[in-house]
Order: sequence, then C-alpha cells, then structure tokens
Amino acid sequence: MAKLSVKDLDVRGRRVLVRVDYNVPMEDKGGPMVINDETRIRETLPTLKLLIEKGARLILAAHLGRPKGQREPSMSLRPVATRLQALLGQPVHFVEECVGDRAEAAANALPPGGVLLLENVRYHNEEEANDPAFAARLARLGDVYVNDAFGAAHRAHASTEGAARVIAKNGGRCAAGLLMERELRFLGEELEKPARPFVVILGGAKVSDKINVIDRLLDKADAILIGGGMTYTFRLALGHKVGKSISEPDKVEIAKAALQKAKDRGVKFLLATDNIIATPVDTGRLNKKGKPVFDLTDPRINASSDIPDDSEGLDIGPESIRTYREVILTARTILWNGPMGVFEDKRFAEGTFAVARAVVEATEKNGAKSIIGGGDSVKALNNAGLGDKVTFMSTGGGASLEFLEGKILPGVAVLDEQ
Ligand code: 3PG
Ligand code: MG
Repeated sequence: MAKLSVKDLDVRGRRVLVRVDYNVPMEDKGGPMVINDETRIRETLPTLKLLIEKGARLILAAHLGRPKGQREPSMSLRPVATRLQALLGQPVHFVEECVGDRAEAAANALPPGGVLLLENVRYHNEEEANDPAFAARLARLGDVYVNDAFGAAHRAHASTEGAARVIAKNGGRCAAGLLMERELRFLGEELEKPARPFVVILGGAKVSDKINVIDRLLDKADAILIGGGMTYTFRLALGHKVGKSISEPDKVEIAKAALQKAKDRGVKFLLATDNIIATPVDTGRLNKKGKPVFDLTDPRINASSDIPDDSEGLDIGPESIRTYREVILTARTILWNGPMGVFEDKRFAEGTFAVARAVVEATEKNGAKSIIGGGDSVKALNNAGLGDKVTFMSTGGGASLEFLEGKILPGVAVLDEQ
C-alpha cells in the first residue's frame, strides 16, 4: 500500500521533523572533518526544497557514524550543516544538541521556510535503544514527521521510528519524503513486475550476506550473474577447488539449495568460468587490527573452475566478462548489487568496471531499466564515472539489502498510509 507523501502534506508555518540520512563518508584532514561523498545530502534537496516552498519550518535529524552514545567530535554533523547551506543557498542553522531546551528553542525560533540541523542523534544511547522517553523528547520538536532517510529505515531507532509514533499519537501526520518514495518505487514496485528479461547481478564477499536476496530473486529473475567472493562458496558446492579464496564452507548446503532452486525454476544462474587470481605472500607485517598483511603477488588469469592451492580468486576473468556482458545486453530490467572483485585494487577492478559499462550500455542502447542496489556497486559506478548513466542508484546499503529480501523496514512501516 502506498505511503502518505510529503507532497500531500499541509505544512504552512508548521514544524516538520525530517529524518534524513546524512551518514556520509568523512575524512580527517587536520582541520574540520571533510565530506568525501555528498550524494546523500544532495539526494534530500528535492524534499527540503518542497517543504521550504510550502512554508514549513524544517528540523532535520540525522546520525553520523557509530559514536555509541558518546559525544565523538569527529562524528559531529556541523560540517554537513555548512555543506547543506551551500547546496540549498540559504541559511542552515545548527544546534549542538538534538533534544532539550536549546534544541526546542532553536526549532521554535525558525521562521517559515527556515532550516535547522540537529546534532548527531547517536550521541545519545537512547537513540539506538528506541527509548520511548527520548523519542518523546525528539517528537517535541515537530508537529509533523517526514522520513526521507531510506538508508536508515531498516533501523527501529528513536529518530526513525519512535518519534514518528509519538507525533502520530499527538495527531500529526507521518509521511514519506521524495527520496524515500523513489527508493521504494525502484527497489520495490519496479521489481514486482519487471519488464523481461530481468537480469540480476550479485556480488560481494559472502553467500551468507546475500542468500535471502538470492532466494527471493530466484522467484522473479530470468538470469542471476554471480561475482565476488561468494563465487567460491558456490564453487565448493559444485565440488571445485578454491585454493586460498575467501569462502564459507559452512554455507555450502545453502549454496547447493540455491543452485537447485535455480534449476527447478529455469533461472539461468551463472558463476564466473574464469578468474583473476593472485598468490598471497605473508609480509611479516601486521595491520592496525593486528592481522598479518599479505602481498597479492603474480596476478594472472586462471581459465579453470579450480584454483591452485597457493592462490586466491580476486576478480572475474575476461571470458566471464564477455559472457556476463552478453546476458546483460539482453535485459529489459537490471538489478545490480555488489562488486565482481576487489575493485579497490586496480589489478582486480576490471570485472566490476566492465559490468558497470555493460549495465550503462544496456540502459542507453536498449532502454533497459537499471537499478543499482546501493553500497559498493554505487561506489564502483561513481569511480568509473558512470554514476549518472543508470536509471536509479539507491542511497541505502544495509537498508536496500533488507528491503530486497522482502523485509518490512520499521522506518517505512511507521508512516501513514495514503
Ligand atoms: C548506513 O550508512 O548504512 C546507514 O546510514 C545506517 O547506518 P548504520 O548501519 O550505522 O545503522
Ligand atoms: Mg550500515
């Protein structure tokens, strides 16, 4: 059922508590923390501008990092307020608290069309605990609630869930923001009855992270192309040797069941037939976490489904790239989540970048609808300079995976129906 939209709210002169996901990557460069990727901030602008136009008073709540109830200065949202002010082209007030007298005074002082960003809600342990008293304190800041934080909607926290309940109990409406609506449309409705062929590309390290998504998509997809570390657990399931590749021997039975389901349902389920492998050599050094550091030496193509004992698979190989591209170019709908290899290292990046190019080619030449399910695949597309050439890129990581698994997201469930 469709959720109430921010478009349909009457908010003139009213205080709107807007949950946004400003959990952006930041870097310490000596002075104030520097924002490395402002996508999540930009993506909220349509909702914010709409509310400003409607004459609402905007109180923005967000988290940054995982400060675990501590006032960790490197996780302050102040640099985000500065950035947002430039992007919006109007003042963005910032208050160093998210609840209490100062926050309330700042909210109440806002003129219609004014914007206030609250400090990191996770400076309080009560946020993640969804503490009812804390949720009620947050709710004192708004007459109406809007959730535009799709990326945090899988969390039942005070700012994503509890405060909305309180505002609803006080008679206020709870609506989805425009970004939230787009996310639900592309990751939800568009994939319910996809134009066929529907091709799914799944990567990432672990079968255990993706098995629920795989299982659900086996009901819908025409083809599933597998890449990344989870390839090797599937290889084990098929009786192959994986050498030193990342794999989960205890997930082999689950992998077998997925392979069987694909067969039963006639879903084309492809594993890479060749890989880029390398031989890890212990450097004798330890990393920050005290783990041994390995050099990945002698990167080379392994044109076999078995990997030598001393080596590990780190990317899909050229033959697999060709096959995957061909399948991708048949698609009318594409869903991609997870890289094909260790793309942060350029020796093992070609598989992921080649898939990115194929997805863009299918979109541009064939009019395929391409939906990128957040996290590392978004990073890879942006690194390849192709971010604006697909139909939709999710701002969610964990949230998009849980949503694709078919889970109910608490931050969505709490919103009013239309
Ligand atoms: C994210 O970046 O995944 C979201 O902002 C949620 O953050 P969390 O995983 O720390 O809850
Ligand atoms: Mg997360």
